[in-house]
Amino acid sequence: MANIYEKTTTAPVNIAVVKYWGKRDTSLILPTNSSLSVTLSQDQLQSKTTIRVSKDFKATRLWLNGIEETNVENNQRLQACLRATRLLRKEYENSLAISGHVNIPPLSEWNLHICSENNFPTAAGLASSASGFACLVYTLAKLFELPISATDLSRIARQGSGSACRSMFGGFVAWEMGDNTDGSDSQAVQIAPETHWPELEALICVVSDLKKGTSSTEGMQHTVKTSELLQHRISKVVPERMRGIKEAIKTRDFKKFAEITMRDSNQFHAVCVDTFPPIFYMNDVSRAIIRLITEYNNSGDETYKAAYTFDAGPNAVIYAQKENIKEIINLLAHYFPSTLDLNKEYFNDHAGLFSTDEKI
Ligand code: DP6
Repeated sequence: MANIYEKTTTAPVNIAVVKYWGKRDTSLILPTNSSLSVTLSQDQLQSKTTIRVSKDFKATRLWLNGIEETNVENNQRLQACLRATRLLRKEYENSLAISGHVNIPPLSEWNLHICSENNFPTAAGLASSASGFACLVYTLAKLFELPISATDLSRIARQGSGSACRSMFGGFVAWEMGDNTDGSDSQAVQIAPETHWPELEALICVVSDLKKGTSSTEGMQHTVKTSELLQHRISKVVPERMRGIKEAIKTRDFKKFAEITMRDSNQFHAVCVDTFPPIFYMNDVSRAIIRLITEYNNSGDETYKAAYTFDAGPNAVIYAQKENIKEIINLLAHYFPSTLDLNKEYFNDHAGLFSTDEKI
């Protein structure tokens, strides 16, 4: 039996088109509404995590982008993911023992060394917690050789960061909010793989790479407590939009996809402004991008050519079909040259998780 085992995997970023904003349970991370996202290609944006497990390690340690995190024991979200995967590993070890296997390494009991890094600026607010926690949980599952589906894993990744559950799949992914109080049905499911709509692309415009003022975690609970508009959004708007966006994806109806995406981004930011005191994530450049895309969409025929969406920060993600991407890049490069400096084009054609399968 070896003394040390190691695994490395990577995970993608996802950008929601129907946004998650609000928790009904903050420790299990159960959302107040379902959401849906597109997973971006790993060519430009990915988290990469290497985990070693050894009976010789004195403690579980974590390095993020090369810097060791202190207080790992008090990191509730990390601990929730470790607890859940270790429990599954323990069950797996027991089942192997019952079926007569010998020399099963008790990895569930050993300490871990976790190294995680992003190949994009963490501070740029580009969903680093989503890819980071998805990668952590996926690496643990591979290291522990867990016989478990991506949807099952998504329920664990959800406890690291809500949006992380959607990074367990490539393509188009729904996080179904579920009804149960224990979170057993609050999970991610793939609506369609990335190959379903290869013409769809995403372009990231980095308006600012400064760390955001109000974190998503903190901001959304202020909204839950104080916004009346959120109640309307949860009960009346999102259920209809989830149905609509799934239909738009199924039929590759870009106009419908774009309209829902832009309306949902607008409403998410309206809900932030309706929070008391208000939260402002977009800035003047973000709003100018909205005006530019609106004019661009209204300049042609009946259909739309681009859809903007903004998360909890000023940066824009533009979804468009391949045929229009060049034109949009030229437009953005003309009016907002600096927004394309950090990142160029982000395609969703190679999206998904994969394992490099290393073991020492
Ligand atoms: C605006 O998943 O970062 O990006 O669950 O507290 O970690 P926690 O929040 P997080 O929130 C993401 C919010 C969003 C919308 C979305 O991705 O759906």
